[in-house]
Order: sequence, then C-alpha cells, then structure tokens
Amino acid sequence: MNLRRAEAYDAPLMATIHAQAFDRPWDAAAFADLLAGSGVFALLAFDEDATGLVLCRALAGEAEVLTVAVPPWARRRGVAKALLTGALGFAHELGAAAAFLEVDVDNRPAIGLYEGLGFERAGLRKAYYDRGAAGRADALVMRLDLGTQGH
Ligand SMILES: CC(C)(COP(=O)(O)OP(=O)(O)OC[C@H]1O[C@@H](n2cnc3c(N)ncnc32)[C@H](O)[C@@H]1OP(=O)(O)O)[C@@H](O)C(=O)NCCC(=O)NCCS
Repeated sequence: MNLRRAEAYDAPLMATIHAQAFDRPWDAAAFADLLAGSGVFALLAFDEDATGLVLCRALAGEAEVLTVAVPPWARRRGVAKALLTGALGFAHELGAAAAFLEVDVDNRPAIGLYEGLGFERAGLRKAYYDRGAAGRADALVMRLDLGTQGH
C-alpha cells in the first residue's frame, strides 16, 4: 500500500472513491473547495488502484477528521487504519494536540476503527445527520489526545 498527499487535481478521484463508500457522496467541486480551505489536507491510498482517502482539517491546535472512505472491495485490509494513522501523525506535526470527529451512532465499522486507534466517546450531537426518508440520526463525537498517543 502506498500513501500520498492529495493535490487539487485529485478532487475528481476523491469524489469517485467517496461515491463508492457513501450513499450521499460529495462531488469533485466539493472536494476541490474543501482542499482549498485553511488547514485542510487529505491522504490517498493506492495499491494498483486507489483504495481510500482521508480528509482532515488541522487548525488552532486541533485536528478534525472530515471524512474517511474505503470502497467495499478494499475493506478489512488496514487501509483506513493506515490512512488515519498517517493523517493524525501529520496533524500532530502541524501542531494539533487533539483530534475530533463525528460519526453516525449506527456506523459500527467506523466506530470500531476509531476506537481501535484510541478515540474515545466525547459526546452526542442529536439529529445531526439527515438520512432522507429514514429521518435524522445522532452523531457520536469522538476525541483522541495526540500528545500522548505517539503520533
Ligand atoms: C469505515 C471504513 C472507512 C473502514 O475502512 P477499512 O479500510 O475497511 O478499515 P480497516 O481495514 O483499516 O479496519 C481497521 C479496524 O477497524 C475496525 N473495523 C473496520 N471495519 C469493520 C467492520 N465492518 N466491522 C467491525 N469493525 C470494523 C476493525 O477493528 C478493524 O481492525 P481488524 O480488521 O484488524 O479487525 C470503511 O468501512 C468505509 O469506507 N465505510 C463507509 C464510509 C464510512 O462509514 N466512513 C467513516 C465515517 S466518516
């Protein structure tokens, strides 16, 4: 597996990866806008093909994981774990002392992934996600102290 920083020209590839992982994908324009934002960076994973992405924002001493996506055919091979480990290490180098993220309370694979990396449950945002006809879902807020995790 190879990891590299995403550049502006990767926005269409990021949208393609995201669409394989989420029911409500973000388009290339959304990724281009996000990548241009202050403190925002992304990593891409490759084997022969692109196998995943992570998008983060590191600002004012804190990092936020904005999204993580691995296509179904590339899952359970450690891709997301490698992406997050790389991104959290980079965020720490940029000065982030802690990382936060929000995750759907029902997303057991993602919660398992984050807990495996040391993230702890920090709170709940009620009715945070719009699931369309399925109504709204709560978000779990998770936090990782980067200072003590050796990232
Ligand atoms: C969540 C997601 C990113 C995980 O990607 P992945 O590359 O398969 O994850 P990894 O192989 O790195 O898994 C690392 C650990 O996470 C946990 N995990 C991952 N998938 C899991 C699953 N389906 N069920 C339970 N635990 C899971 C396990 O602890 C796993 O370690 P193990 O394989 O040694 O047991 C992927 O399933 C995905 O893209 N899902 C759809 C998008 C999404 O929900 N993104 C996160 C919310 S923003």
